[in-house]
Amino acid sequence: MAFAKISQVAHYVPEQIVTNEDLAQVMDTSDEWISSRTGIKERRISKTESTGDLATAVAKQLLEKSGISAEELDFIILATMTPDSMMPSTAARVQARIGARKAFAFDLTAACSGFTFALSTAEKFISSGRFGKGLVIGSETMSKTLDWTDRSTAVLFGDGAGGVLLEASDKQHFLAESLNSDGSRSECLTYGQTGLTSPFSVQENPDAFLKMDGRAVFDFAIRDVAKSIKNTIEESPLSAEELDYLLLHQANIRILDKMARKIGVDRDKLPANMTKYGNTSAASIPILLSECVEEGLIRLDGSQKILLSGFGGGLTWGTLIVTI
Ligand code: ACO
Repeated sequence: MAFAKISQVAHYVPEQIVTNEDLAQVMDTSDEWISSRTGIKERRISKTESTGDLATAVAKQLLEKSGISAEELDFIILATMTPDSMMPSTAARVQARIGARKAFAFDLTAACSGFTFALSTAEKFISSGRFGKGLVIGSETMSKTLDWTDRSTAVLFGDGAGGVLLEASDKQHFLAESLNSDGSRSECLTYGQTGLTSPFSVQENPDAFLKMDGRAVFDFAIRDVAKSIKNTIEESPLSAEELDYLLLHQANIRILDKMARKIGVDRDKLPANMTKYGNTSAASIPILLSECVEEGLIRLDGSQKILLSGFGGGLTWGTLIVTI
């Protein structure tokens, strides 16, 4: 029986910082509104780097930190809703740029749940016993999805990437998981809708910008996602008290406050960095994980238990409990 473990983490964000005050210069908003409603103070916005560029920087760091060569990789899974192109996949671009000749590579789209869905998928490849090493990366340039005249969405998102190296292990590290979708509620979060464009089709081009019913998503998070996290903990061999940290998708600080209460864990167990980065969709959990390691909260020595949970467009939500 093969098992998988997260053996290295890394993140990379574009250099340009856009503060709430900067946004207030170009749209009718304020630092007071954004901070009090969301907890976000600033975000990174790419000037030139694409989703593939950010992901490549993460992939290179993962190889360097772990001391393995790109040729040892069996796969690269890239979670993104902002690929550089539909074909080739952004994962294939990363594979070429780092020289991972042996690896198969593909993109996976599940909006803000993308990283948890990708990590779960990768774990199945490794535990099949056929693959020994792979990268799982969440990378997004959310800035290209936004209608910059719509203050209700433009202030919420940012660009960035994070990822992990997953390797075969002789011990079990993935303790529980729950992956969920509810397409019947998809209308409350949409982006990138495409239409038929042939001369033989009759269809108006749909609005492609990101659209969100913020209140519906907020309610979904604190109701459905909190309940699902609680159930996943109950079905796992651990209690909530035994978890060292819960790394939740970074959308809104008020969601984290309410989640902690609903799940019944100390608020200090839910680290937050949306203050600096906003909502980076599939990149938010691996960026947070990597920062927790940099800050010494997570030691990567196999002794800690953490819960990862993403939620968003689809609707989708996914939770994993791992030792790390
Ligand atoms: N600046 C100033 N005022 C604003 C802004 C802004 N940037 N945006 C909206 N407003 C105004 C609105 O026009 C409205 O004014 P009105 O009352 O005069 O009509 C008022 O503020 C209240 O707007 P609401 O949308 O009701 O504000 P709410 O308190 O619900 O907060 C928010 C909005 C922050 C988006 C919240 O609903 C939220 O965080 N939702 C969850 C989002 C989320 O978690 N997304 C994750 C998934 S994303 C993914 O998967 C890609």
